[in-house]
Amino acid sequence: MLQAIRESVEYLQKKIGVFEPEVGIVLGTGLGGLVKEIEIEHSIMYSSIPNFPISTLEFHSGKLIFGTLKGKKVVAMQGRLHFYEGYSMQQITFPIRVLKALGIKHLFVSNAAGSLNPEFKKGDLMIINDHINLQPESPLRGINDADLGPRFPDMSQPYNKKLIADGLKVAEEQGIICHQGVYVAVTGPNLETKAEYKYLRIIGGDAVGMSTVPEVIVANHMALPVFAISVLTDEGFPEDLQPFNLDEILETAAVAEPKLTKILSQLISAL
Ligand code: HPA
Repeated sequence: MLQAIRESVEYLQKKIGVFEPEVGIVLGTGLGGLVKEIEIEHSIMYSSIPNFPISTLEFHSGKLIFGTLKGKKVVAMQGRLHFYEGYSMQQITFPIRVLKALGIKHLFVSNAAGSLNPEFKKGDLMIINDHINLQPESPLRGINDADLGPRFPDMSQPYNKKLIADGLKVAEEQGIICHQGVYVAVTGPNLETKAEYKYLRIIGGDAVGMSTVPEVIVANHMALPVFAISVLTDEGFPEDLQPFNLDEILETAAVAEPKLTKILSQLISAL
């Protein structure tokens, strides 16, 4: 793995020269608007980067965007990998390892998720303060490379406390409804049944989605501070469950996206 990371980093450093990103950003489905705020210096197709996994169409058009956001040097992943697409957990999280090796000091992650908490409505934001991993394996399964991180990484506080507090403050100042809560990661790609939404709420979830947790585990393995935030695009309330409608989800994401962009860009500029 170290060798593969080194190869990818060498390739990227040849392309970006002296540019050294301080912040990594992973943008969720339908949540790419933050890229418009970046003064782009380099844009590199995933498909051209050695060892980056490619096979699905979505990822084929994925790019690493290097540039400046509110004075901070950032690298954004436009197009993220999901376990349901068939990648291994190691493949999904490989780009995070590469970003860390390029020098990022913070990781910001966004996603679209379903609300499980009756108080959290469609279109609201939720800063993730903890998670429950119901995906079938950890990205750290297998031989551990001690140069990357410990065999048994601590997960007592996987989301940076100060960034959570700062994010809630920014939201309040901007008049944005933003909760905090527990994100449950499922494999997907099918949505949940009524009984499953009920179960996910009972076990302590506030939101459910199909991403984010693998990246967060790997970031914690490498002691990289994380901020993660969900746009709640639908309501998984079993008593009144509506059939899943992807167009509606994408529309809700598009409407909520500017709020997310405000919070992320404000937090990043204040780092
Ligand atoms: N369940 C799982 N993943 C999701 C959902 C959901 O309700 N909404 C957006 N991603």
